[in-house]
Amino acid sequence: MQLRTTWVSLVGLLLGACSDHSTWRPLAETEYTPAQAAQRQKAEAARDALAKALLGELTAALANGPQQAIAVCQERAPVLAAEVAQQHGVRVGRTSLALRSPRNAPPDWAADHLRSGPATAAWFAGSRGEFGAMLPIRLLPQCVQCHGEATALSAEVRVELAKRYPQDRAVGFRPGDLRGYFWVEVPN
Ligand code: HEC
Repeated sequence: MQLRTTWVSLVGLLLGACSDHSTWRPLAETEYTPAQAAQRQKAEAARDALAKALLGELTAALANGPQQAIAVCQERAPVLAAEVAQQHGVRVGRTSLALRSPRNAPPDWAADHLRSGPATAAWFAGSRGEFGAMLPIRLLPQCVQCHGEATALSAEVRVELAKRYPQDRAVGFRPGDLRGYFWVEVPN
């Protein structure tokens, strides 16, 4: 019995050491180490690159009307995020409390800020030296045709969204509203 208990706790210990779960805590700008200041710059550079790429493709796609542009958003948004992640050596994505696509759910460390934090940028430190950034995304006027109030959405857009995103919650926004966040995770 004694032996079995020891064995069980030993396995538990080993599993604990091998689990890839970091613990995260909010990080104030005033407590940054030089390494964290560099990680934040990296996070912001990745966010800038992804924002630019998304806006560029969205603007080009909208030339053919919002209905077609929905397909472009669906196909290209994850590809662009993966490209920026690779080029910048980070993990990056977009998230929101009112999701259009369920695949844009936040990483665990970002969930609390998303749910109950102020609508501002926020920083996090992982127990293995990772750095997390949540960077707000506000609605621009050209976004309302797909994320706006009912009057801003054409019948075609509504049909297309219902078809591709049966659980869509990402409507009802006005320019200036907090639409969601870019999240960026920078490794140690
Ligand atoms: C042509 C329609 C269209 C326009 C215009 C548009 N979006 Fe979206 N948006 C989408 C689609 C479709 C998705 C889901 C993409 C996916 O499947 O990952 C999406 C997803 C998002 C997400 C990710 C979170 C979620 O709800 O899944 C954010 C944030 C977002 N859009 C912000 C914006 C902003 C800001 C603008 C204006 C600059 C904008 N969108 C303009 C169609 C649009």
